[in-house]
Amino acid sequence: MTIRPRSLLIGAATYIPGLRNFTGRKTGGTVSARYCYTVWLRHLCMLHRHTLPTTFETVVELGPGDSLGTGLAALLSGAERYVALDAVRYADRARNLQILEELIALFRNRAPIPDQLEFPLVQPPLPSYNFPDFLTSAHLEAALASARLDRIRAAVTDPGTSLRSGRWICYSAPWTVEVIGNAAVDLVFSQGVLQFVHDLPGTYTGMAGWLKPGGIMSHEIAFQSIGVSTEWNGHWACSDALWKLAAGRRRHASNREPHSTHIALLRKAGFRIVTEERVVRPSGIDRAQLAARFRHMSDEDLTTSSALIQAAKLA
Ligand SMILES: C[S@@+](CC[C@H](N)C(=O)[O-])C[C@H]1O[C@@H](n2cnc3c(N)ncnc32)[C@H](O)[C@@H]1O
Repeated sequence: MTIRPRSLLIGAATYIPGLRNFTGRKTGGTVSARYCYTVWLRHLCMLHRHTLPTTFETVVELGPGDSLGTGLAALLSGAERYVALDAVRYADRARNLQILEELIALFRNRAPIPDQLEFPLVQPPLPSYNFPDFLTSAHLEAALASARLDRIRAAVTDPGTSLRSGRWICYSAPWTVEVIGNAAVDLVFSQGVLQFVHDLPGTYTGMAGWLKPGGIMSHEIAFQSIGVSTEWNGHWACSDALWKLAAGRRRHASNREPHSTHIALLRKAGFRIVTEERVVRPSGIDRAQLAARFRHMSDEDLTTSSALIQAAKLA
């Protein structure tokens, strides 16, 4: 296993006071309306494919990143309230408003879902990228009614900070678990976030508490070392000391937890796992190279590079 020298340098530099904030200044995807549209519709299509609900009153997104576009797509497809919780405040009003208008056009045109050619790194892949039939014309007509769109525009301009505010959109960054009351939410989703969360047990317990009985979680999680090592899964070969140096205090440093940790935490929090769409990739390292704390990792974990996990809260 090889740690890239540049990564080691950046990781070590994050321990110098003031330099940490130079890492993770942008998050990537949600600057593009088409990215937000494809991410939201992929979660929705996979829920439909696994006969889970696709209409929601209150939707929470963990880690929206550079814009609130993915949650805005949820509102435009019929959700009534959207709460965005991030560790860092990346999104701003001007970009949110611009992305909202572009999303409205995409939904009005029932545009096909941007596919793997346009977004080769976005997971999960779908069997079909046609606009989903279950979002019927009548449903979209109501969701895109002009009075409703004006309320969404007003909510983007002036979002609340907690669900109690009663606003259609809330944005809290950094967030605390109290921002959302108990059993108040129908769907919690995230895209490329849970691999960075440090307190995974606490976060799963928090998300479980927010959801109503029967409520849904839908999380796309990447398990790669994200460029820190030359092998996609070289992070599992690093000793804790080496990883501490290479990952440093970057804003987006992988917690190195594999697929099975998420499944175990969901089950412990009282969820029935419905969807496990794993992307399987040959391991870049031998089992003998695994660091002590990962030595007992299953072959399934060792070769799972990302997964969409969808689960329902037991009543
Ligand atoms: C790679 S970006 C993904 C952003 C966006 N979801 C997308 O699809 O492009 C990771 C995001 O997770 C957020 N994040 C990391 N830890 C978090 C936490 N504990 N709670 C909420 N968001 C978190 C980061 O601030 C960042 O916005």
